[in-house]
Amino acid sequence: MKVRRPIIAGNWKMHKTVHEAQTLVKSLLLELPDTIISDKDVVLCPPFTALHKVADMVSNTSIRMGAQDMHWEKEGAFTGEISATMLRDVYCRYVILGHSERRQHFGETSQTVNLKAKAALASNLRPIVCVGETLEEREKKDFRAIVRAQVRESLHGIAAELAEEVVVAYEPVWAIGTGRNASPAQAQEVHALIRTVLADLFGAKRAAKVRIQYGGSVKPANAEELLSQTDIDGALVGGASLDARSFTAIVKAAK
Ligand code: 13P
Repeated sequence: MKVRRPIIAGNWKMHKTVHEAQTLVKSLLLELPDTIISDKDVVLCPPFTALHKVADMVSNTSIRMGAQDMHWEKEGAFTGEISATMLRDVYCRYVILGHSERRQHFGETSQTVNLKAKAALASNLRPIVCVGETLEEREKKDFRAIVRAQVRESLHGIAAELAEEVVVAYEPVWAIGTGRNASPAQAQEVHALIRTVLADLFGAKRAAKVRIQYGGSVKPANAEELLSQTDIDGALVGGASLDARSFTAIVKAAK
């Protein structure tokens, strides 16, 4: 029996208009009544434009809302950006930060992730902090040092009392959207490594309570084995979260 409550999050990325989102959430509400998810956290992370509508639809359920990014400042002249307060305003409880797609295409660094994580926590938003190596980094075999540094830098200066509010997502870049997931043993190894970094940062007792999600080609067929690993406390699901049946199957695989 795991001490940590499983957390399954759907990262919809740049998919679904408001209308399409409504259709998906209608099906999810039928498949995932509260009785099924009472022992786990289920989080939907639609694009910004659909947050408000989806939040309305899940407001009387145990399903929680998350966003896919935010800015660290409270407000101001930052065209195109969204603040933690704005996310709270549309009922978000979580925010994905430092996704590899943002690191790769939009200049996100562990330093900006760190600013965002602190700002999120200050606004009572739980950051889902993403880390993970590229294929090149894994093949060069220095990927452990890279993941360690990403965790350390992204969580730098966060108070130990807030550690439990943080979720870390290990998403090897080579496994994202490729259909090639990390094997359960490969993922478990890195999750255990991440937990040692968390212990350095926050102390072993607190590190034992931090949830670490795996992300990268999670599907109904591989979810159960991945989620049964000692240090895998949930999944951050991309493609398979866009389909009610497959997302439901993954949620059910989390015990
Ligand atoms: P896929 O599940 O589509 O591989 O995406 C994973 C991911 O990036 C979730 O954040």
